[in-house]
Amino acid sequence: MKNYSLLFVIIYCLISGCNPKESTNTAINETEDALESRIDSILSKMTLEEKIGQTAQRGKSSRVKELPEELKDAVRKGEIGSFLNIMNKEDAKELQRIAIEESPNNIPLIFARDVIHGFKTIFPIPLGQAGTFDPELVELGARISAIEASTYGIRWTFAPMLDISRDPRWGRIAESGGEDPYLTAVMGTAYVKGFQGEDLSLPTSMAACAKHFVGYGAAEGGRDYNTANINNVSLHNTYLKPFKKAVETNVATFMTGFNDLNGIPASGNTYLLKEVLRDQWGFDGFVVSDWNSIIEMIPHGFAKNEYQAAEKSAKAMLDMEMTSTAYQNNLKTLIEEGTISENQLNSMVRNILRIKLRLGLFENPYFDPNSDILYDQKHLEAAKETALKSIVLLKNDNNILPLKREQRLAIIGPLADAPHEQLGTWTFDGEKEHTITPLLSFKKDSIYNFKYSQGLSFSRDKKNAGFAEAIQTAKNSDIILFFGGEESILSGEAHSRANLDLPGAQEQLITELHKIGKPIVLILMAGRPITLTNILDKVDAVICAWHPGTMGGDAIKEILSGKVSPSGRLPVTWPKEVGQIPIYYNHKNTGRPVVPDEYVHMDSIPIGAWQSSLGNTSHYLDLGYLPQYPFGYGLTYSNFEYSDVSISSKSIKKGDTIVVKATVTNTGTVKASEVVQLYFRDMVGSITRPIKELLRFKRVALDAGASKEIEFTFNTDDLSFYGVDKKWIVESGDFMLWVGKDAQDTTHELTFVIE
Ligand code: BGC
Repeated sequence: MKNYSLLFVIIYCLISGCNPKESTNTAINETEDALESRIDSILSKMTLEEKIGQTAQRGKSSRVKELPEELKDAVRKGEIGSFLNIMNKEDAKELQRIAIEESPNNIPLIFARDVIHGFKTIFPIPLGQAGTFDPELVELGARISAIEASTYGIRWTFAPMLDISRDPRWGRIAESGGEDPYLTAVMGTAYVKGFQGEDLSLPTSMAACAKHFVGYGAAEGGRDYNTANINNVSLHNTYLKPFKKAVETNVATFMTGFNDLNGIPASGNTYLLKEVLRDQWGFDGFVVSDWNSIIEMIPHGFAKNEYQAAEKSAKAMLDMEMTSTAYQNNLKTLIEEGTISENQLNSMVRNILRIKLRLGLFENPYFDPNSDILYDQKHLEAAKETALKSIVLLKNDNNILPLKREQRLAIIGPLADAPHEQLGTWTFDGEKEHTITPLLSFKKDSIYNFKYSQGLSFSRDKKNAGFAEAIQTAKNSDIILFFGGEESILSGEAHSRANLDLPGAQEQLITELHKIGKPIVLILMAGRPITLTNILDKVDAVICAWHPGTMGGDAIKEILSGKVSPSGRLPVTWPKEVGQIPIYYNHKNTGRPVVPDEYVHMDSIPIGAWQSSLGNTSHYLDLGYLPQYPFGYGLTYSNFEYSDVSISSKSIKKGDTIVVKATVTNTGTVKASEVVQLYFRDMVGSITRPIKELLRFKRVALDAGASKEIEFTFNTDDLSFYGVDKKWIVESGDFMLWVGKDAQDTTHELTFVIE
């Protein structure tokens, strides 16, 4: 895959007239010192107003098409540093021309857009991409997104979103890498590398943006924009980890969150933006606010007015303001009054200019509108490959899947042919006309005899008018393929849900279809885990395809037909019921962990029972303690067995490297892929540690009967944690390791000691 992605880079650099080896950009060849001197020289020529102008990002909502004339005048005066959502190429070029030719210091603009999981060619939602456990493929997808988006002059994407989410009610879980800090960090690195390319100054590279800094995914009750309370130790060990990794990967920009974190809104949070991001991590790119998030500190009750909001954000070192105008209206007065020093503003502008220089915008401000590359065949193939690897087989009773050629299929459900819906959230630029739906895919090469009857017009449809026809279609078939889930608008920003069952009358329709007695395969397309308790026993197989993007239909068909064995794994714990949320695998043990044999379900409690604590452990009387499916889970059409699981040494010194080996054998009858997962537990710590933490993973494709030895290498530093004394430490003591199929697999256990 690595070579494949490199090949892409080379091909596209050739097409777009750049050469990765010989960058024509002088900025990138400058030493850092020379770059800083260049910034000094630009800064020395700028007036206070022009400096403030660089901190302003203006733009339009993604729906607005017209560009107000006054914005051009503002660029002419040097009052704007960046735009978002300018999707008319002529407008973008004209704005850039004004900035370069008519503004006081000829500083180029930087154009931004939410290019989250594809530009025109849409890849699966990031949650699905995390489920591939294939960072090289994710990197390739981000590379392709940058190649496509840069044809519109977009050199900055507001991605990747690195918010850890343990709450599928939160709509933006779709845009996340799931619940695990390690997996999110690995995927975040892949996105950053892919977006930014080999060299940020190439015309097809986009500055990435690590967002939302930080804690946004821990919103209370999963309600978007809500308060996050995270203690400092968890903040570092869980929520900050992927962001730290992004800085190590040279991410160019950061975005703050809308949320209040422990009483301080993220956009005015000096601890996060100054102490952690700049002083501890040495980040030298720039930080942008989220949309209006500076002035939203007023309703947060953290600032009295825009003036105070601007003061707090600037003091925290938030460099650029997205859409609202608190900086523009107040920074000058704040500086003239001495509340903020001009040096402070200089640092903010310096950070912005640094990235503009690194992007090569001063040398190559314009873009080449080579749109032929959009939806290129290779892009579509990569999108299909990603969708294929993201699809998770959750249930497959009696090996009902893959389908058999002679079976007559009933294709039913609101999402079998919903080209817009399968693209998922944040797909402003994807066009449904290019989408391959499952129905279209079955129509394209019909090796199957199938009939289609939608049953419900859309996922929230509550009317049963289409039931009779769907039931008739099902009666005349051998197997029912039910394409259900949620429309794309039900996940994403501001789209939190309190109930995660299939919406509308989908459960009723499945119940009716079940009565016919034919096997049912439920294919879910959704932005999050969907609770299945009411219908799980009525379906024989379940596939989670997330929102799979442009090529989703072909990918789903290849999985159903058995051309490819499913290989996606869950990047998030799948709850049985909403009442279990937050639910995640790397929780603490508590003083009263569950003892499975002692668990008492409430139906087993005798009437009039004596007041007792019933097992005395941490569980629910009605739902137990297990999720529906654990983190890392996913079936294939084959079977894998692990043997010869070993560790290089049982007694290790701090700083040592450790090697864990295991042999994986495909004991089934078809080629398939396994995601081998390595988890560890620090048994006793100066603070309590999670019962398990993902340490490494490896995807391995094996022919039937084949074996492979897998090797995981790590250092004791990888076992460190952020402690109460605010330092990363590795403590001596006992550790456990598991090599397995998912977070609940404890079959292969190892122990070692750090001396
Ligand atoms: C979102 C950001 C996004 C920005 C610009 C905000 O509402 O929270 O993630 O990048 O809008 O579209």
